[in-house]
Amino acid sequence: MAVKNAMTNDFLHSAYGGESMAHMRYLIWGKMAEKEGFPNIGRLFEAIAYAEQVHASNHFKEIGGDTADATVVAGAVFGVGKTVDNLQGAIDGELHEVNQMYPVYLNAAEFQKEEGAKRSFHFALEAEKIHAELFKQAQDAAKAGKDMEFQKVYICPVCGHTVLNEAPDKCPVCGAKKDAYKAF
Ligand SMILES: [Fe+2]
Ligand SMILES: [Fe+2]
Repeated sequence: MAVKNAMTNDFLHSAYGGESMAHMRYLIWGKMAEKEGFPNIGRLFEAIAYAEQVHASNHFKEIGGDTADATVVAGAVFGVGKTVDNLQGAIDGELHEVNQMYPVYLNAAEFQKEEGAKRSFHFALEAEKIHAELFKQAQDAAKAGKDMEFQKVYICPVCGHTVLNEAPDKCPVCGAKKDAYKAF
């Protein structure tokens, strides 16, 4: 078992569940945005869905050799509404992760000296701050009846760092190289 402490192990399971659901939810909401005539907002959802997949994968790997069945409790937004409302769900979800969930999980991992979990929670926390901001911009556009304006969305495949228009030479969160970024 890669994780020594039960509390951090529980938090990794819960974060894995939450990120997995966010991944699916954003793919579904992305399709709805496209249908409503917001192709770029649809693409933003698709790109961020991939970032959440990166987070879920990191958490899953940190659970390591603990193969025991587990029931996962993870708070989530459900349902499909209009894009403006879906974006509110996305903003609320990201802000919950930024202000409540990940700081607490990170703190626990730090206290329990769980280096792998610490890294995984830190990566997610940094990306979710950006996601909340981008979803706010998307919602402002959608409220005005407009699509969001950008060329491409770039996602770091190591940590989920998310940036519009151009990938940085080096990921500011994990140090991955520019050409590693996945473009949407
Ligand atoms: Fe996110
Ligand atoms: Fe990164």
